[in-house]
Amino acid sequence: MILFEHFRCPLHRYTFSVKPVRDWVEQRCEGRVLNLFAGATILTVNEVRNDLDPLMPADYHLDAVTFLRKWDGPPFQTIILDPPYALRKSMELYNGMICSPFRQLKDEIPLCLSPGGSVITFGYHSIVMGKSRQFNLERLALFSHGGAIHDTIATVERYQP
Ligand SMILES: C[S@@+](CC[C@H](N)C(=O)[O-])C[C@H]1O[C@@H](n2cnc3c(N)ncnc32)[C@H](O)[C@@H]1O
Repeated sequence: MILFEHFRCPLHRYTFSVKPVRDWVEQRCEGRVLNLFAGATILTVNEVRNDLDPLMPADYHLDAVTFLRKWDGPPFQTIILDPPYALRKSMELYNGMICSPFRQLKDEIPLCLSPGGSVITFGYHSIVMGKSRQFNLERLALFSHGGAIHDTIATVERYQP
């Protein structure tokens, strides 16, 4: 069964600065969290923060794939993915920071995630990690911003190898 939720709220370039989104993501986090595209919003969870932009408040300033390949600490219970959703957005909104190929990123994630852990993703897609990587879609939330603005799709996928 997939749990579905729907919210109306404004869109902000720093996604979690909007309260309903922030509340939703904080409530979904479990254990030690990797916030891989951390941006400007500091969450009230036990998070390790990474953002390529050196101006963002983060523990690491690495490309997301490089971070995952270099990580030699314990696996995380939750990994949050809130990348720039499109190349144009990278250029216009995030100081030209460009996301590395998403497929490579998805292939690296299971190596840094505990079995039973979850990946929380924000973007335009409802399946991110998918069954081929042994993830089950558990929750789906639509954040509707009104007018001509695309909704934000958020998912929780659980790693069940
Ligand atoms: C949608 S924003 C994240 C917003 C954040 N969740 C918040 O609420 O503040 C995307 C972030 O990804 C960062 N970014 C872009 N390309 C990256 C990359 N290749 N690796 C890591 N971070 C990257 C940008 O600097 C930007 O802060």
